[in-house]
Amino acid sequence: MSADRDPTRSSSEKHPIMGKRTLLSTGHVFLPDEAASERDEARVAESLSTFDPHDWDSVRGQFSLAGEYAYFAAFMLASHPIPVQNAIVSFRHGLDNFPERFQMGVADLEHATRAREAIARYTGTAPGQVALTDSTTMGLGLVYRGLRLRPGDEVLTTTHDFFSTFEALRLRAAADGAEVRRITLYEDPAAVSADQLVDRLRQAIGDRTRALALTWVHSNSGVMLPIRAVADLVAEVNADRDEDARVLLCVDGVQGFGVEDVDVAALGVDFFITGTHKWLFGPRGTGFVWGADHAWARLDATIPSFSFPAFTGWHTAEAPRGEPGVLHTPGGYHSFENRWALPVAFEFHEAIGRARIAERVKVQAAQLKEGLAGLPHVRLLTPRAEDLSSGLVCCRVDGMREDEVTNRLLTEHRISAGVSPHRDTCVRLGPSIVTTPDEVDRLVRAVASLR
Ligand SMILES: Cc1ncc(COP(=O)(O)O)c(C=O)c1O
Repeated sequence: MSADRDPTRSSSEKHPIMGKRTLLSTGHVFLPDEAASERDEARVAESLSTFDPHDWDSVRGQFSLAGEYAYFAAFMLASHPIPVQNAIVSFRHGLDNFPERFQMGVADLEHATRAREAIARYTGTAPGQVALTDSTTMGLGLVYRGLRLRPGDEVLTTTHDFFSTFEALRLRAAADGAEVRRITLYEDPAAVSADQLVDRLRQAIGDRTRALALTWVHSNSGVMLPIRAVADLVAEVNADRDEDARVLLCVDGVQGFGVEDVDVAALGVDFFITGTHKWLFGPRGTGFVWGADHAWARLDATIPSFSFPAFTGWHTAEAPRGEPGVLHTPGGYHSFENRWALPVAFEFHEAIGRARIAERVKVQAAQLKEGLAGLPHVRLLTPRAEDLSSGLVCCRVDGMREDEVTNRLLTEHRISAGVSPHRDTCVRLGPSIVTTPDEVDRLVRAVASLR
C-alpha cells in the first residue's frame, strides 16, 4: 500500500469521480476496484525486477492492463508501461512536494532537450528540428495554421484524412481564406495499389499547390500510403520550382509511428507530425512535429515558446533566433511529468527493439487480416499487402452497427476494439506489443460468432 493512501477514508471520498460508477458511451460499466490496484502495486514491483525485453509475456507484464481483457486498441490512447508510470510518478511527486526542485518548471529547458534528443535518436533526425507538442492534433493545428501561403496558393489534401487534419485546414481557410482542395485516392481500400495512390496525387498536384496534407496510415481503412514514393513524386515536381513555390509534404504519421521500422528522416517528408501516446505507448499528452530546416523556414510560430531565445528576444526587442524545434514548441507550463517521462518510453521501446516490435505487430496484423478475410459476413477494408498497411486493421460486419460490434466484443468476449469516428465509420482493431497471436485467434473467433 502506498504511503499517501489513507485507509480510514472510503474510496469515494478519495476519488470523487472514480468512486462513482463510470458509464462509458459503449454502455459498459466499469467499477473502480481498490483491491485490484493494490494487487497491481505488488505486481509492478515484481514484474519490473524480472523484465526481459526479449520475452513477449514479460513485455505484456510491464502493463497494468486488466489481465482478463485483450487490448486491440493501440490506435487510441496508450496504457503506460511500468517504467513510464514510474518516471511520471517520480516527477509528479517531485513537483507536488517541492516545485522549486524543478525550478518551478524551468527545468523543462533541460528535460525538453532530453525528450528532443530521444525523439531525434529514434527518428534519425536532429534534436533542434523537433518541436514538442501535446498531441498529433496540436501539431497539425500548428503546422496548418502557420504555413506561409500567398493569395492563390493551395493546400492539397484528401478525403481519407482524420478529423484533426480536416479541421486544422478548415480553421485555416476560415481565418484567412487559404485554399484547400480535397481529392479521393481510392474507392476500394482493400484493392488499392501503390501506383494508383501515387498517380492520383501526380494528377492532382497543380501549379498553385504549395503543400500536401496527407496521412501515413488512414484511420478509417488502414491503408498505408507509400510515403517514400510520394516524396519522390514531390521531389520531381519541385525540381524546377523556386524555393518558396516548392510543395511541402506534410504527414500525420501517428498511426504508423511506433509500428513501422523506419527512420522518419528516411521517409523524405518535410513535416512529420505525430503523437507519442498511441502505438509507442508513450506518456499520454505527448507528441512532436519534426520539420526539415527548409520546411521550418516556411512556417510561422503560433504559440509563444518558453525558450531562451524567445525570452532574450523579449528583453532585447529583437526577433528570437534559435533552433526551429525550440522556437516552435508551444510554451507555458505543461503537464511536465508526462513530457519529461517521454525519453523513458523511447528507451523501453528501443530495449525491446524497433525491428522486433514491427515484426510482432505486422505478423499479428497479417494473421488477423487472414482470419477476417475468411469470414463471409465480414468486409475487410485494409489491404493485405504489407507495404500498403501497418498495424491498424479495419473492417465492417454485415448487418451490424459498428458500435454494436465493439460492445459485443467487449462485453461478451472481453476484447477492447474501437469504432472509427469518420462519417463512413468502421470497426478498428490494433494488434500490438500488448496482444498475442493467441488473442488474435480469439478475436477472429469472436468476430466469427457475431451474427
Ligand atoms: C490519423 C489520426 N491522426 C490524429 C489522431 C489524433 O491523435 P492525437 O490524440 O495525438 O491528437 C488520430 C486518432 O486519434 C488519428 O487516427
